[in-house]
Amino acid sequence: MPVKHPNPSDLEPIERASRDELCALQLQRLQWTLRHAYKNVPHYTAAFDAVGARPEDVRTLTDLARFPFTTKKDLRDHYPFGMFAVPRSEVVRIHASSGTTGKPTVVGYTRNDVEMWAALVARSIRASGGRAGDIVHIAYGYGLFTGGLGAHYGAERMGCTVIPMSGGMTERQVQLIADFKPDIIMVTPSYMLAIAEEMRRQGVDPTSTSLQIGIFGAEPWTDAMRLEIEKQLAIDAVDIYGLSEVIGPGVANECIESKDGPCIWEDHFYPEIVNPETDEPVADGEMGELVFTSLTKEALPIIRYRTRDLTRLLPPTSRSMRRMEKITGRTDDMMIIRGVNVFPTQIEELIFRQPALAPHYYCEITRPQHLDELKVYVEAQPGQHDSAGSAQQLEHHIKSYIGVSASVEVVAAGGIERSLGKARRIIDKRPR
Ligand code: DLL
Repeated sequence: MPVKHPNPSDLEPIERASRDELCALQLQRLQWTLRHAYKNVPHYTAAFDAVGARPEDVRTLTDLARFPFTTKKDLRDHYPFGMFAVPRSEVVRIHASSGTTGKPTVVGYTRNDVEMWAALVARSIRASGGRAGDIVHIAYGYGLFTGGLGAHYGAERMGCTVIPMSGGMTERQVQLIADFKPDIIMVTPSYMLAIAEEMRRQGVDPTSTSLQIGIFGAEPWTDAMRLEIEKQLAIDAVDIYGLSEVIGPGVANECIESKDGPCIWEDHFYPEIVNPETDEPVADGEMGELVFTSLTKEALPIIRYRTRDLTRLLPPTSRSMRRMEKITGRTDDMMIIRGVNVFPTQIEELIFRQPALAPHYYCEITRPQHLDELKVYVEAQPGQHDSAGSAQQLEHHIKSYIGVSASVEVVAAGGIERSLGKARRIIDKRPR
């Protein structure tokens, strides 16, 4: 299939700007954001004062490091609207993330914020190879989750025909893909696999649909998963990254011509990587926790937000902006098994090395005798019967590549529950 390269003349000038131009814009926007947050959000006034950081002293981008971090807890402590920097009447939209414990995290948008977000998701769709006039099937969930509506406004802004399908009703997803013939699908990678499976069940060949491009995100997924999805559906699979606290989907998006990690839309979000233990910024290229400062947001300016996502910053390739490596995992999803750090994505990569196994899996952690134990449940490919052999092989690979002992149980095809959105990769059964 021909890869669609965006026409350079379709790009916004800033996507081709020099580093100097980009940094000048970032600095000017950063100064505005810090003043706006300091003046209008009591939490930021107190937090900046506590460390003596003054917005009017910021002369360079590196001066940002003098400002305090913002965490999910700060947003929770000011639930629901206490972090807003504009009167509530100027907030035209609310989203919230469910959160497994306690209160949800609430975010708000002014009309300009919604416009900026739509423009960035449109930019992301274009980077993914989409064009005005394409039909876009959106299977991210609609509602308080930012995935569905975020994708929706961006696709409309791009001039696409939008099918607001949302997540779930998998049989119907397949039917509408067959009938409406979308060019692009926007969905979590794990749910894409479930849709492909349903296609096969209905006797539809997943490689022969109208789909040409998938824009996948909202959960970690490996390059091995990319190849699998591209093979199963005969499409180009690109990575879209984002989080509600920063805006939603469209903080960063991969360019189809290079597929080398999401390009960060740095004209609106300033990235840093910090060492999660020391909180010190690290150099580009070094692994650590991704931290974002919004540069143009009105309702919820966010200063040095600790995303808990682990990655590193990479030099620009297809655009003038820096990229991030595909997310390895979140600090909260890091399993520490007898002192060794393990992420589900590492297990995922090893599963793909075995043709007899299917990429439907989860990890269970228990603590039977005061020591953590890891068990991986993974499905066999349909028609595969040597599950003992595959289990042993995977155990061996986990031990030799990751350095931990894990037990593996291979279950029959269809034995692991499919997610309709973000897949749950870890079940932690340790006593609290
Ligand atoms: O998941 C926003 C989104 C929707 C992004 C649709 C992409 C597509 P939250 O529910 O706030 O927002 O969850 C954000 O999901 O901190 C990451 O841990 C994870 N995440 C999002 N995109 C990716 C990605 C949306 N491409 C959290 N790769 C983030 C890996 C991702 N992890």
